[in-house]
Amino acid sequence: MRGFTHTTPLITALITYSLTLVIIKAAQSTHDHHPLPPFSCASTNPSTSSYPFCDVHLSVHDRARDLVSRLTLDEKISQLINKASAIPRLGIPYYQWWSEALHGVAVAIGVENGVSFNGTIRAATSFPQVILTAAAFDADLWYQIAKVIGTEARAIYNEGEAIGMTFWSPNINIFRDPRWGRGQETPGEDPLLTGKYAVSFVRGIQGDSFEGGSLKDGRLQVSACCKHFTAYDLDNWKGVDRFTFDAHVTKQDMADTFQPPFKSCVEEGRASGIMCAYNLVNGVPNCADYNLLTKTARGEWGFQGYITSDCDAVSLIYEKQKYAKSHEDAVADVLKAGMDVNCGLYLANHTKSAVEQGKVSESDIDRALYNLFSVRMRLGLFNGSPSEQSYGNLGRNDICTPEHQDLALEAARGGIVLLKNSAKLLPLSKSKTKSLAVIGPNANVAKTLLGNYAGPPCKTITPLEGLMSYVKKTKFHPGCEDVNCTSAATSQAVKLAKSADYVILVMGLNQERESEELDREDLVLPGQQQSLITSIAKAAKKPVVLVMLCGGPVDISFAKNDPKIGGILWAGYPGEAGGKAIAEIIFGDHNPGGRLPLTWYPKDFINIPMTDMRMRSDPSSGYPGRTYRFYQGEKVFEFGYGLSYTNYSYKFVSVSQSKLDFKTLSTTDRPEHSGYISVADIGSESCEKAKVSAVVKVENEGKMAGKHPVLLFLRRDHKGGNASPVKQLVGFQKVSLNAKQKGSVEFEVSPCEHFSRASKDGTLVIESGDQYLVVGDQEYPISINV
Ligand SMILES: *[C@@H]1O[C@H](CO)[C@@H](O)[C@H](O)[C@H]1NC(C)=O
Ligand SMILES: *[C@@H]1O[C@H](CO)[C@@H](O)[C@H](O)[C@H]1NC(C)=O
Ligand SMILES: *[C@@H]1O[C@H](CO)[C@@H](O)[C@H](O)[C@H]1NC(C)=O
Ligand SMILES: *[C@@H]1O[C@H](CO)[C@@H](O)[C@H](O)[C@H]1NC(C)=O
Repeated sequence: MRGFTHTTPLITALITYSLTLVIIKAAQSTHDHHPLPPFSCASTNPSTSSYPFCDVHLSVHDRARDLVSRLTLDEKISQLINKASAIPRLGIPYYQWWSEALHGVAVAIGVENGVSFNGTIRAATSFPQVILTAAAFDADLWYQIAKVIGTEARAIYNEGEAIGMTFWSPNINIFRDPRWGRGQETPGEDPLLTGKYAVSFVRGIQGDSFEGGSLKDGRLQVSACCKHFTAYDLDNWKGVDRFTFDAHVTKQDMADTFQPPFKSCVEEGRASGIMCAYNLVNGVPNCADYNLLTKTARGEWGFQGYITSDCDAVSLIYEKQKYAKSHEDAVADVLKAGMDVNCGLYLANHTKSAVEQGKVSESDIDRALYNLFSVRMRLGLFNGSPSEQSYGNLGRNDICTPEHQDLALEAARGGIVLLKNSAKLLPLSKSKTKSLAVIGPNANVAKTLLGNYAGPPCKTITPLEGLMSYVKKTKFHPGCEDVNCTSAATSQAVKLAKSADYVILVMGLNQERESEELDREDLVLPGQQQSLITSIAKAAKKPVVLVMLCGGPVDISFAKNDPKIGGILWAGYPGEAGGKAIAEIIFGDHNPGGRLPLTWYPKDFINIPMTDMRMRSDPSSGYPGRTYRFYQGEKVFEFGYGLSYTNYSYKFVSVSQSKLDFKTLSTTDRPEHSGYISVADIGSESCEKAKVSAVVKVENEGKMAGKHPVLLFLRRDHKGGNASPVKQLVGFQKVSLNAKQKGSVEFEVSPCEHFSRASKDGTLVIESGDQYLVVGDQEYPISINV
């Protein structure tokens, strides 16, 4: 999203919040009664509370229909935008659809009244940016985080300091190109990982139970939104912007890369919101795509909820994309495609004339309003006073609690990835490290820890502050004026480095280098950072430790290959407690277990245009393909890579089936193909029978306890050429093991889902041949006959 107004106030606010170590306590309310949040159907107002739409004994369906039937055309139109007007005669207050909660309740830039943080509640728990949280490969952690975010959001609402309970998170687009400025917001490049993240996040924030139960009438703690639907992963690259970019996506890539996370988000997560993206896909603007919004999401996946446009996306359809011939056609296109609410003013401005010109009928509008009011009702906003309902007991004491802040620390610990540890430099000894030099432009900037779409944190601990708590004699120099590092204070930094037992360099990127509307044009460290690092490493007494703060990958081969750089940590943007987690890992109070959720490409990868959406390689033209599933070129670090202070060994102890013969499994008649069968033809019953349970024994062979995510991949005998992924993730589970302890993890693999790939026309197929379950260096063959 982009802000409607200038962004300065927020940025100023964030800097104020975070430049120093601020501990903001929710101010004590001087009143016993805080202002009530806005709600409808107050029992104290008999003239409105007697309407059927206020009757909690009726279904949401009936209530929403009743409400919509009472509105005039002008009132209806006023509800089609994110700032939905109050309808005082029916006791309905103003509603703001736009709020943000990507990794903590956040401020939406330029939005009035969503969540303002300008009253008595000034902060919320700020978790690591999503790309780092994803690196923990821990679905339960993601669920717990989202649950806390939903709890804090509801508490802020109950305190009368938020209006919106519809949050436009998570961002589940595939991190297709390493240059994408918003890749940091996503769980990475893998569709299975991204889908599982989506499900955990949505269930957690919406208040579902992980066992799949749902509360009566689909009641929501707060509402989540799967965005940006679909194939949106370019912001602004060499003059190509997201507002006019037409993504050419093959049916094949659509089916097995771009759509699966959205399918999971809707089918398993039961998200109550979807956002259609700015861009066009194969010539059609996403928000005007009936096949996408209505046929696929609502029809095939059973989506129940509302669909919003990205902000101002509707105005682009006629004005910039020239897809519609007039304002009224654009309005008709989106309403008939199945979009329900427009972030912006466009539908408020042009719907009336679209109706007058006969391009839109009132029933098109009613369809949208039904979806919109159903979600507001599921949020409990039409049930009278919130204090008498579920979640009504949450309040200021549920925000920034010690438990929530511990979870933010736990998430940072879980995600941070150890990329290099030559000669076991790390962990440093707490007792023997007498002095430390901390150098780098990212060592002591609190706001950099937060990434984008952040709210004001409860408190922050920078890497410098975290390290100082271990070593009293710690000295700091930023090395450069900022991450751009146009000039480096090399001689001062070198002098400092020479004076200390150990040197920790905290380098990388920040939101000025990668963010919304800002894709990178290279994959290297900005300015003089690399030469600064190398000079310091050369001068230091011992090999140095390099900590990288960045969302997207950076080609740091120079550091990987430099013997004077002994340890490298990737810490993403690690959230409010990030500096503490980094220090704990450096000094061995936590054993790192994170694994990269994305490929770190060499810098030459930028030779392919960011606009080329193809996932699969094209050897004839030298196109290398994208992500670990298809790209077979050189890598700086690969997907799933991550070291720890201990060693784990794996062994398959049992696999329930090693031969899958779909000829005998399948009972129905089906077409004969040579070598492959479509998943649809196998049928759900046979798919169920084909499920494979695999038990893997894991042993911690080292000397330190650790939490370790075990990644299970599928590798194919590569007959299918570039059409099949080289390998693909089929499951992940974490296991916590003490030194020398053995444990086991069980995976349930569903061949129809996990062993299939899309064919050219987008149908999912399974091929005959040997496939291998792979964990670490262990492989288990499964022979498939169709
Ligand atoms: C907070 O900001 C909103 C506008 O975003 C304003 O309506 C409200 O009065 C403000 N509250 C306080 C306590 O300043
Ligand atoms: C809608 O109309 C208002 C008032 O005329 C105008 O300021 C605004 O720019 C318009 N917005 C859009 C998206 O059409
Ligand atoms: C750093 O570089 C970026 C990208 O060139 C630029 O937009 C930004 O303004 C620079 N920041 C400073 C503080 O100079
Ligand atoms: C783990 O195993 C690797 C490869 O066998 C070895 O180089 C490394 O030293 C081991 N690390 C530990 C902590 O035992």
